[in-house]
Amino acid sequence: MAERIVTFEIKRQANPDAPATWERFELPWRAGMNVISAMMEIAANPVTADGRATTPISYDSNCLEEICGSCAMKINGKARMACSALVDNLEQPIRVEPLTKFPLVRDLQVDRSVLFENLMRVKAWVPVDGTYDLGSGPRVYPQQQEVNYPLSNCISCTCCMEVCPQFNVATGFVGAATIAQVKLFNNHPTGKVLKEDRLRALSGDGGIQECGYAQNCVQACPKQIPLTNAISDIGRDVAVQKLKDWLKS
Ligand code: SF4
Ligand code: SF4
Ligand code: FES
Repeated sequence: MAERIVTFEIKRQANPDAPATWERFELPWRAGMNVISAMMEIAANPVTADGRATTPISYDSNCLEEICGSCAMKINGKARMACSALVDNLEQPIRVEPLTKFPLVRDLQVDRSVLFENLMRVKAWVPVDGTYDLGSGPRVYPQQQEVNYPLSNCISCTCCMEVCPQFNVATGFVGAATIAQVKLFNNHPTGKVLKEDRLRALSGDGGIQECGYAQNCVQACPKQIPLTNAISDIGRDVAVQKLKDWLKS
């Protein structure tokens, strides 16, 4: 019986200034094969379908189980995690290209540090005053846990930002992931001491007002984070904060 072959078309670009090209690769099919395992095979033996030796493909990955968030890329035109993209569920040739909203590093690798800059801008952390023993933390009730746990599943993959029509240089929009983390940390009994700072950080240019509520983000999120709920809730909180600040001024 003829061996089953899986065909990939991969966008290649040696550096941000180099011209982009597409290369075709063929690999023998294996049960359970996913896009990252295919990238590993190609990296180990970088030879194109027409037998030409090429450079190994550059890409990010780590956990291989949709936890670290590093392997986001466009697969058949859709932003998703390569480690959970099973070859059997994809139309061939499987076209793989880098995310388009972030500066390219090389091939499928992009620089997504803007998400971490945005998280710093909104103080997406629980402040801890010193490294001494602070005793047990405040009680978090099950009802609060049910709201917060899904938000805490964000893996910083940036798929929500890639698909968002408002996430671009012109708007400077922070994107859905950052807004969801504001909700998470504002809900936290200790984290909420920075609530007003976070809401103010989202009230100006690039803040929540940039969201057009197109809801692409919630559909693209691999962790099913309730992003549009978070955007509505934080939108209301930002409006209330603005009103309070105006009344005080
Ligand atoms: S609702 Fe639409 S505009 Fe708002 S963050 Fe999501 S994708 Fe972007
Ligand atoms: S909110 Fe979802 S899509 Fe956005 S970075 Fe977090 S896990 Fe990824
Ligand atoms: S390798 Fe970690 S999410 Fe895919």
